[in-house]
Amino acid sequence: MKYKKYFRKTSLKQDNIGEQFLKEIASKKPHNFLEIGVFHGVTARNVCELLHSIHQDDFKYIGLDLFGESTENSGEIIPNTMFNNPIKKIYFKYILRQDPYSLIAVTSLLKKFKDNIHLIQGNSNSLLQKIDMSKIDYVFLDGGHAYETVKSDLNYSSPVLDNNGTILCDDYNLSYAPGVKKAIDEFIEINKVKSEILFDRFVKIEKN
Ligand SMILES: C[S@@+](CC[C@H](N)C(=O)[O-])C[C@H]1O[C@@H](n2cnc3c(N)ncnc32)[C@H](O)[C@@H]1O
Repeated sequence: MKYKKYFRKTSLKQDNIGEQFLKEIASKKPHNFLEIGVFHGVTARNVCELLHSIHQDDFKYIGLDLFGESTENSGEIIPNTMFNNPIKKIYFKYILRQDPYSLIAVTSLLKKFKDNIHLIQGNSNSLLQKIDMSKIDYVFLDGGHAYETVKSDLNYSSPVLDNNGTILCDDYNLSYAPGVKKAIDEFIEINKVKSEILFDRFVKIEKN
């Protein structure tokens, strides 16, 4: 399945990485997918299209993001939300009149799947513990890149592994965010779980 960009920004922008990512998700056929770090919602929309093609309406997508800069996330690496392309700037500012990095804009991008999605605005450090993980069978961890945040995200996501589920972490080995690798390596070591590096950027974690 092709990974579409929907005229927005995404971290899965390099050639073919989006397709490889979707192929990996398709191999697991999850019914209840959680994305930590939604940003413009491009991966969210692609995942919903994929899960809909596999399960029709029998799937759920939950997305969690700060959706906006605040003092709460000043320590986090937030991707540049501004477009270099002037056509995109005009499209969002004057035609859609939306900030693509907002709950409203992502809700609108996913409106086709309104009955299957649940978008949550907030900080994973405080919100993940309120999410019922017992039904989630796939987590795409791509939110905050600070060591403490990744550590906390992994710990709160870990019940998914007991459901025979998968945690896929992005940005392992990112030179400017070494806390990601440190937190992932520690989690794997402490919990004695199975891990595999995929496409030189993701780490797939599953139960041994
Ligand atoms: C790399 S982007 C996500 C890209 C998206 N997964 C994609 O494929 O296009 C990281 C996102 O994590 C969010 N984020 C950073 N720290 C967070 C936190 N503590 N809680 C929730 N979201 C966070 C940022 O707002 C940003 O949108």
